[in-house]
Amino acid sequence: MKKLVVLTGAGMSAESGIKTFRGSGGLWEEYPVEMVATPEGWNANPELVTQFYNKRRKQLLEVEPNAGHYELAAMEKSFDVQIITQNVDNLDERAGSIKVLHLHGDLTNVRGVVHSEYIVELKPENYEVRLGDCTPFGDQLRPHIVWFHELVTMIEPAMELVKQADYFVVIGSSLVVYPAAGLLHIVPGGSPSYVIDPEELTLCRFPGIKHIKLSASEGIRKLHKLLLEHKEL
Ligand code: APR
Repeated sequence: MKKLVVLTGAGMSAESGIKTFRGSGGLWEEYPVEMVATPEGWNANPELVTQFYNKRRKQLLEVEPNAGHYELAAMEKSFDVQIITQNVDNLDERAGSIKVLHLHGDLTNVRGVVHSEYIVELKPENYEVRLGDCTPFGDQLRPHIVWFHELVTMIEPAMELVKQADYFVVIGSSLVVYPAAGLLHIVPGGSPSYVIDPEELTLCRFPGIKHIKLSASEGIRKLHKLLLEHKEL
């Protein structure tokens, strides 16, 4: 089976009703990124950060995978699909995708502030964390999310996967956040690469990449058909 490596961003889950980050109406407009997604923000106001992620976990109970998530899962019948997601939701897993690497962490897990190796999975209905909820060692639990200014420890396994790609596709990412966007530079030469995004994008940094200017669900359907027919675009 040919290996299809997929890098997803917030646009993948937009049709499920989860807001993207940038652009008008994006999440970072409502919540300043430095307040809720940096270690400095956590140190300044852990209550605000805890509530922000509680809200986002609660939202996971209210949303469903969209047709794009299901189409990606269905592609596993014909391709060795490896998803590398910048998203912290669990919609790929809920749609049935097997190989999902979370580059920026995930909402369903929390870990110790000091004992970062102590990671606990929250049951969906127990999404609320409070200040004072601690590890057995006595340190506060925090979101298992990679904040700005923190190391992206999963980037190396992600790079290994991208190096093996027969096909590479980005879905719904503005490609402004590194190191994730840098993965595009190590796709093997000769492996067709695509970006699925309904908006106009500046892609001159990534020569050779083909833009499928559609929403995630429509774009993945189109790509699935193209790859099954051994066509490129
Ligand atoms: N289908 C596909 N793409 C869409 C859709 C849709 N229905 N709706 C919007 N998009 C596109 C937008 O045009 C945009 O290019 O999704 C992209 C979302 O970009 P961002 O909001 O910047 O999200 P992302 O690229 O995932 O951000 C990367 O930055 O804020 C941090 O850690 C956070 O993982 C996140 C990272």
